[in-house]
Amino acid sequence: MDAISLLHERSSMGKLMGPPPNAEQLEAIYRAALRAPDHKELRPWRFIEFSGEGLERLGELFAEAEYREDPHVGDTALNAARKKPLRAPMVIAVIAKVTPEVPKVPKVEQVISAGCAAHAILLAAHAQGLGAMWRSGKYAFDPVVRKGLGLNEDDEVVAFIYLGTLGGRHKPIAQHDIDDFVEHWR
Ligand SMILES: Cc1cc2nc3c(=O)[nH]c(=O)nc-3n(C[C@H](O)[C@H](O)[C@H](O)COP(=O)(O)O)c2cc1C
Repeated sequence: MDAISLLHERSSMGKLMGPPPNAEQLEAIYRAALRAPDHKELRPWRFIEFSGEGLERLGELFAEAEYREDPHVGDTALNAARKKPLRAPMVIAVIAKVTPEVPKVPKVEQVISAGCAAHAILLAAHAQGLGAMWRSGKYAFDPVVRKGLGLNEDDEVVAFIYLGTLGGRHKPIAQHDIDDFVEHWR
């Protein structure tokens, strides 16, 4: 697949199954992520790769987040939270590791750089025939999850990227009209 086709045709896949990406595929994925644009070479990126029991540990954090939000939450909701990471054989948390108070590189730029890294992961996965889906949801912003993942005060969870083997067909790609989005100053 050539680069322009990849950029035009990348698509999310929510239905994912095993096996997870292999070591070679993961290396290509991380190399792509580490090419994200990066003002002043701060490298504001941290990735946590969850698989196997790691997915269950992540699910446990999600359940703890539910409990913090509502100590009267029932078992059904807690179990639903626990199961969320098990929708894929692998999840990569993309974290913006923010260096505060860098002249000319405010936090927003560092978070955007981590967002670019997340997009690169999606693209590298798609290019290799893997399925991937960027999810954040409320857990990305939850204090229990943030603490459990070891975030510093200025860090942000930018994405939980669910990765695996395609478990279904890609949906048709929405065709947007370029003129609806682009203004010309000539
Ligand atoms: C920052 C961010 C967070 C997202 N979080 C979720 C989410 O929690 N759940 C979800 O179903 N989709 C989420 N999405 C949207 C999907 O990843 C996906 O982009 C969307 O379903 C459109 O599919 P496409 O990527 O094939 O165009 C998120 C996208 C972004 C950019």
